[in-house]
Amino acid sequence: MALLNILHFPDPRLRTVAKPVSEFDENLKQLVSDMFETMYEAPGIGLAATQVDRHIRLLVMDVSETRNQPRCLINPVILSAEGEEEMDEGCLSVPGFYEKVRRADRIRVSTQDVDGVSSEFEAEGIEAVCIQHEMDHLDGKLFVDYLSNLKRNRIRSKLVKQQKQKSS
Ligand code: NI
Repeated sequence: MALLNILHFPDPRLRTVAKPVSEFDENLKQLVSDMFETMYEAPGIGLAATQVDRHIRLLVMDVSETRNQPRCLINPVILSAEGEEEMDEGCLSVPGFYEKVRRADRIRVSTQDVDGVSSEFEAEGIEAVCIQHEMDHLDGKLFVDYLSNLKRNRIRSKLVKQQKQKSS
């Protein structure tokens, strides 16, 4: 097990569009286990492979309060979306910032597990929001993209300043 380095906005690598997972091998299982460790340690409720600079369609999440319901989605696809939900979102790649984002409230998702087995399920509320947020990462998109230019630029300059202070 290993903690992985999480990329921070505005790192251009976060804009990479991830490729489908085709090899369901030991390397994949190792990455999933490292991503869970990194997400729980952070702590966060979701982490996409993009955020740890691995550009494949894989995300891990746990939206339970008890932090014992790990879920791993591989090659996820949103089959249908309904309703509207507005929640304060944060992101491990945008540390310290929380803003309201509007998303679908109920989604139906198809996914594969670490062995490549396909399934479908329905999610709503925070689980649906988390899946949509993490799937955005796989397309190189961040929650700050839903904000006004003014807000996004303000967040960008604060984070760039923090990163400079850390590296100096
Ligand atoms: Ni995020």
